[in-house]
Amino acid sequence: MQISNTIAEFRHARAQLNGTLGLVPTMGYLHEGHLSLVWRAREENDSLVVSIFVNPSQFAPNEDFAAYPRDMERDLDLLRDEGVDLVFAPSAEEMYPPGFDSCVQVESISRRLEGEVRPDHFRGVATVVAKLFNIVRPDRAYFGQKDGQQVAVVRGMVADLNMGLEIVAVPTVREPDGLALSSRNVYLTAEQRAAAPAIYRALSLARDLWDHGDVNGERLRSKVKNHLDSEPLIDGIDYVSVADSTTLEELDAVTVPATLSTAVRMGGTRLIDNVLLG
Ligand code: PAJ
Repeated sequence: MQISNTIAEFRHARAQLNGTLGLVPTMGYLHEGHLSLVWRAREENDSLVVSIFVNPSQFAPNEDFAAYPRDMERDLDLLRDEGVDLVFAPSAEEMYPPGFDSCVQVESISRRLEGEVRPDHFRGVATVVAKLFNIVRPDRAYFGQKDGQQVAVVRGMVADLNMGLEIVAVPTVREPDGLALSSRNVYLTAEQRAAAPAIYRALSLARDLWDHGDVNGERLRSKVKNHLDSEPLIDGIDYVSVADSTTLEELDAVTVPATLSTAVRMGGTRLIDNVLLG
């Protein structure tokens, strides 16, 4: 496994690879959710690149960029065991040198849901992902359904800008009690961790309603909200949404492929999750 910290070094290593190439972009501190993307990418491609970069431009000044958990040595050990060919782990200066002055903005999708609370977040994501696509030039790139809006933003960008690669969304990996794996779960206290499965339970209750024929968007949102409200350790609900999976427009009648999603706050930690309908 070759590790490149600069773009020039990476391009040199990448030029030695033949056949199809899969890319798994990450911010490191890898868990089984990230690894499920690696497994899928390895199945579908001749070679495999994983990027590790905690992207400063997708964090707002009040967010956890400095505190974001990092463990490069452990990450590299895990990726070595998974047979990854190349790791791209640049510095912030390498990705954003002095004079850096461009961005990619997927307009309306980026403003909804997460975008209401994190207005510049998806501009940072789209910009760094576009840079990674240009540096790595993969045939396929793998993203977790856990971050459903991120998948919609990246798909929108790839279609609008004719980037010509395939975006693969991989199902969310969960703890046995249903909590979606996330690098941010380490911020939870033991009590909060014990209460957090209420999020997936709430989404699952509403999905059950939909499975039994209830397509009323408002009723599905209320079902989620009521269950979340009944968990005292959930301090706030940023949104509960039932939206078209592609445009993220809220639905009154859930008759097209839809994403049921929510973001909640437990103390200082924000947790997001979603399930697909149809
Ligand atoms: P990060 O949070 O490290 O996540 C990297 C990838 O792993 C994302 O596609 C995310 O959706 C996926 N992932 C995280 N938890 C998952 C889970 N429980 N099940 C399945 N997949 C999971 O997302 C980012 O980094 C960044 O925004 C990035 C795309 C790298 C751009 O900076």
